[in-house]
Amino acid sequence: MDEFVAKKVYVETYGCQMNISDGELMEGILVEKGYEVSTSAEVADVIIVNTCAIREHAEERVLGRVGQLYGIKKERPEVIIGVTGCMAQRLGDNLLQRAPYVDLVMGPDGYRSLPEQLERIHIGAKSMPSRSSKKRGPQLAVLDLDVGENYEGLVQRRTSPVSAWVPIQRGCDHKCTFCIVPYVRGPEKNRKSSDILNEVREIAEAGRTEVTLLGQTVNSYESDGVVFHELLRSVARIDGIRRVRFTSPHPNDVTPELLRVMAEEPTICEQLHLPLQSGNDKVLRRMLRRYTVDTFLEKVTLARDLIPDLSLSTDIIVAFPGESEDQFEDTLDLLRQVRFDDAYTYKYSLRDGTPATRFPESDFLSNEEAQIRLTKLIEVHRSIQNDINKGEVGRIEEVLVEKKGRETSQVLGRTRRNKVVAFNASSEIIGTYHQVLLTGTTGATFMGELAN
Ligand code: 5AD
Repeated sequence: MDEFVAKKVYVETYGCQMNISDGELMEGILVEKGYEVSTSAEVADVIIVNTCAIREHAEERVLGRVGQLYGIKKERPEVIIGVTGCMAQRLGDNLLQRAPYVDLVMGPDGYRSLPEQLERIHIGAKSMPSRSSKKRGPQLAVLDLDVGENYEGLVQRRTSPVSAWVPIQRGCDHKCTFCIVPYVRGPEKNRKSSDILNEVREIAEAGRTEVTLLGQTVNSYESDGVVFHELLRSVARIDGIRRVRFTSPHPNDVTPELLRVMAEEPTICEQLHLPLQSGNDKVLRRMLRRYTVDTFLEKVTLARDLIPDLSLSTDIIVAFPGESEDQFEDTLDLLRQVRFDDAYTYKYSLRDGTPATRFPESDFLSNEEAQIRLTKLIEVHRSIQNDINKGEVGRIEEVLVEKKGRETSQVLGRTRRNKVVAFNASSEIIGTYHQVLLTGTTGATFMGELAN
């Protein structure tokens, strides 16, 4: 049997930070097996589209893109197209029927066997009669969710020379009624703390100074007797690490201990993402979020008391089934009260298989109504954000330079509070820290100039 020596793999990732991290993991697994990572689909032998299932819109985009990539396969039939991640898990065999040119669908727990599956497809194609117009291997679906799979022992291919994603937890034990994640990523599983700490040490030794710990409800992490705030403190104290972030925490697991660790450890950034989803208790109950507006606000107050200058961001869903006009207004009021530095805003999207699909039909809002609410929400958020950021102009902030900016003489970096700053400097300073004067804001991001 001849060995599969496909040379180039191209991975295109959609969705959350965990997905980006998974994309790096797949690249790492394939590089170990002799693949080369390509930045263009046109020249690749294997094309992987790493997908998200959180909203219908995300899925439609990906299906469109996969259709486009089929053009490449028409030119070069030997190209293997794989669809991985949450949408692959959700649609499974259906996806293979809907897009018959897709060779492989693989859910989030299947990546360890990626090289093997690609080889099976490749060998299958080679064994086709030479005059066959099909010239392709079997269509494979790898969809088992594996409660034991934490990808230990595999090497993630980290593309940023500056910062590193570190998955510490996979899956989710919550059952928020709108959310598909528990069904496509399975129950929560946590990596061993010693493995995580070893990995962060290696990241620091490789010269990366910023790490972001990842998990669907990252702060519910618990493994071998170590809980999240203890792990976080240990990560924060690793030599060479200068910035630590984590995402996404669940508000219920934001404890005073966690906030104290954030306040005490100088490497942990003054930034907290607290997904609110709605500012009305009845809606929160129907979402099964298991907190109330009051308990959420208590966390916000405690966090701001303990961590001066804390930057807060959130996620909001509008037009959840049954959300009345008044309940939506409650969300706007809460936004005005908390004043989040950043907000990711979404129209509710119905996901098959989630509990919210069982609400009575009359509870569902039309797309038009949802859009009106979303527009209003974005308007309120932007105005608050603009106000906050205008107030920061004139400050000198430590910026970690991450990449080149859109204009050639510009670089982009982030403040500790996770705000993006563009300023004039040579790209040689990527990966280093600088004091930057914030000279102006577009509302969401900043312009600056070097102050050191
Ligand atoms: N519809 C709209 N937004 C959703 N989110 C999760 N599921 C849905 C859905 N069905 C949002 C939540 C979550 C973020 C990652 O995506 O706000 O925090």
